[in-house]
Amino acid sequence: MAFSSGCRIGAPVAAILLLGLAAAASAQLSATFYDTSCPSALATIKSAVTAAVNSEPRMGASLLRLHFHDCFVQGCDASVLLNDTATFTGEQTAFPNRDSIRGFGVIDTAKAQVEAVCPQTVSCADILTVAARDSVVALGGPSYTVPLGRRDSTTASLSEANSDLPPPTSDLADLVGNFSRKGLSVTDMVALSGAHTIGQAECKNFRSRIYGESNIDAAFAASRQANCPQSSDGDKNLAPLDESTPDAFDNAYYVNMLSQQGLLHSDQQLFNGGSTDDLVSTYASDAAQFSADFAAAMVNMGNIGVLTGAQGEIRLICSKVN
Ligand code: HEM
Ligand SMILES: *[C@@H]1O[C@H](CO)[C@@H](O)[C@H](O)[C@H]1NC(C)=O
Ligand SMILES: *[C@@H]1O[C@H](CO)[C@@H](O)[C@H](O)[C@H]1NC(C)=O
Repeated sequence: MAFSSGCRIGAPVAAILLLGLAAAASAQLSATFYDTSCPSALATIKSAVTAAVNSEPRMGASLLRLHFHDCFVQGCDASVLLNDTATFTGEQTAFPNRDSIRGFGVIDTAKAQVEAVCPQTVSCADILTVAARDSVVALGGPSYTVPLGRRDSTTASLSEANSDLPPPTSDLADLVGNFSRKGLSVTDMVALSGAHTIGQAECKNFRSRIYGESNIDAAFAASRQANCPQSSDGDKNLAPLDESTPDAFDNAYYVNMLSQQGLLHSDQQLFNGGSTDDLVSTYASDAAQFSADFAAAMVNMGNIGVLTGAQGEIRLICSKVN
């Protein structure tokens, strides 16, 4: 490490140096990072992701969410991929993750294929970031260039996974605050929420909304209630986050908001008479603006807390430290 035990510096100086390193770290990401060391990396990841999404469209949603859950906990460092061991508890059993995040097998397959052509060169954190982009593209969403050069953590944080991933009961102010703490703007937050144009949610995560809230379309609530009983039966029953086009990455999520057909409480918060109403209306009517803002926001999210240079490691297997 840069600061060996023999190097004595005062705490304020160290803090300034560390801040400088953090800024430099994200500046070091580069779209061409593997161009020489592993020129086939991106094509290899893309083919693994495309095959998985073609055989199960929801997998694209699951991989996109896995990247989000990685980045909001310790930064985009593949910490979410680490399994528990006898001496270590990872993030996968955290409340927002348990029995809910998926896609590990696709990342493991992509990693094995990349390792076969470029041993210990491409990080799991980069593979997950690229897989999220390729998933969006496979489902018809915008493409964008992914800055690369992340390295993998040697630790994970169960407590941060429990505290830093916003729950679906969040109000608008909570969401704004939670994303701001990660350096993301209100526009980033609203655009990234458009990820809920694909994928599924479990009944337990929207039950209180479809039975208890008034800012919901009555016919929509009734149709969701049919497969999500008010008792605790059916906690795991699934419903699409976007009923109209659940497997297409489009701007329908925002169109749904306008008619109070957001599935999660947190979704409808973005269009509920508050400061983000105008942006939701814009995205509902202007798919190109949504695509541009989503792509930019994904790059911003992908920069959160990255490890670069000599930090961390390149894991050989994504589910365990070397
Ligand atoms: C704004 C705050 C957010 C909240 C409160 C939230 C909450 C949730 C919840 C509760 C689910 C359903 C999980 C389940 O029932 O198993 C879900 C699913 C999903 N979330 Fe979010 N989410 C948020 C932001 C995001 C972001 C930023 C992304 C990605 C950019 C994202 C992508 C997804 C996707 C794609 C799914 C479906 C996953 C699948 O079908 O496997 N979410 N989210
Ligand atoms: C998210 O927002 C809630 C409500 O404001 C707050 O209690 C929680 O601490 C926030 N979490 C983070 C990580 O900012
Ligand atoms: C991590 O857990 C998954 C699921 O149980 C398993 O398939 C995988 O082999 C585990 N990885 C390691 C390194 O044990």
